[in-house]
Amino acid sequence: MPHTTLRRYLRHGMFPQLMVFEAVARLGSFTRAAQELFMAQPTVSIHMKKLAETIGVPLVEQVGKRIHLTDAGRELHAMCREVFVRLQEFDRRLGELREPGKGRLRVAVTTTAKYFASRLLGEFCNRYPELHVTLHVLNRQQLLERMEVCADDLYVLGSAPDGADWAVHPLLPNPLRIVAPAGHPLAGRRRVPLATVAAEPLLLRESGSGTRQAVEEHFRAHGLVPRVRMELGSNEAIKQAVLGGLGLAVLSSESVSEARQGGLAILDVEGFPLARHWVLVHPAGRTLTPTAREFVQFAVEHGRRLSAQEGAAAPPPAARRARRKALSSDQKF
Ligand code: PGA
Repeated sequence: MPHTTLRRYLRHGMFPQLMVFEAVARLGSFTRAAQELFMAQPTVSIHMKKLAETIGVPLVEQVGKRIHLTDAGRELHAMCREVFVRLQEFDRRLGELREPGKGRLRVAVTTTAKYFASRLLGEFCNRYPELHVTLHVLNRQQLLERMEVCADDLYVLGSAPDGADWAVHPLLPNPLRIVAPAGHPLAGRRRVPLATVAAEPLLLRESGSGTRQAVEEHFRAHGLVPRVRMELGSNEAIKQAVLGGLGLAVLSSESVSEARQGGLAILDVEGFPLARHWVLVHPAGRTLTPTAREFVQFAVEHGRRLSAQEGAAAPPPAARRARRKALSSDQKF
């Protein structure tokens, strides 16, 4: 304990004594305090005596039948009220921690996941208006660093992290697609070879981005090196640069869905879309708060519902295969 001078207060069962003192001070009587606390009056007297011994000065004085506080007693009474208010606040927060939909939910997501994660959290908050949510948005590398120190309750990222330390809940397919400006010569062509794309200027996310890592790995696996024209720190900036004709880019379907009408074309390239899967993750050994548990369930159900809707809209066979593969590997991501 930092303050050794405080030790004497903590050796003598001070909390029950303070409870008795607070009642005596408030009611001005040992008898009434004993009644309120369902104690025998001699027990109240013993608590008061011990407390005065601990403090080292008299706390009350008797004038006639009334009990009056001394200066030290008044100081102690003020301190008692503060301590009890803090205890009540602590107890309230504890209650919130036990009850789903109250208190705090801390979520961190990758830059690419922010689109659907924000929608998901929005819907969850509509269900629980008293919930206080914090959402951190970072690239994959930064998110993994945050995960290492367990800074949040839950994490959403574009594919499962390595290692067995994480409980992983698959949410939705996260296919990565190659985009170009709508009038690009490759737009509308079928089965464009990857080597053709590798010859085009490519816009990449910053280092540390999971999307970038997946792209680099894919090109490497095919013995190709992309012609990187520019590195940009956000998906929005990349979309604008593609629209501006600076090059092609690989983006998560999530970040291009609403931009399709806005002048972006999705190219049909061999090996694409790259199959990834959004996952919700938390440390495997951690006991989640009821709210975090509820959110996991909510997000997984939401993911199932959306996947079923997408299934009804009959995605291309490659995407279907990718999704089947992702779903069947379940916790083994
Ligand atoms: P990022 O996200 O490109 O924004 O880092 C990708 C991922 O979640 O892996």
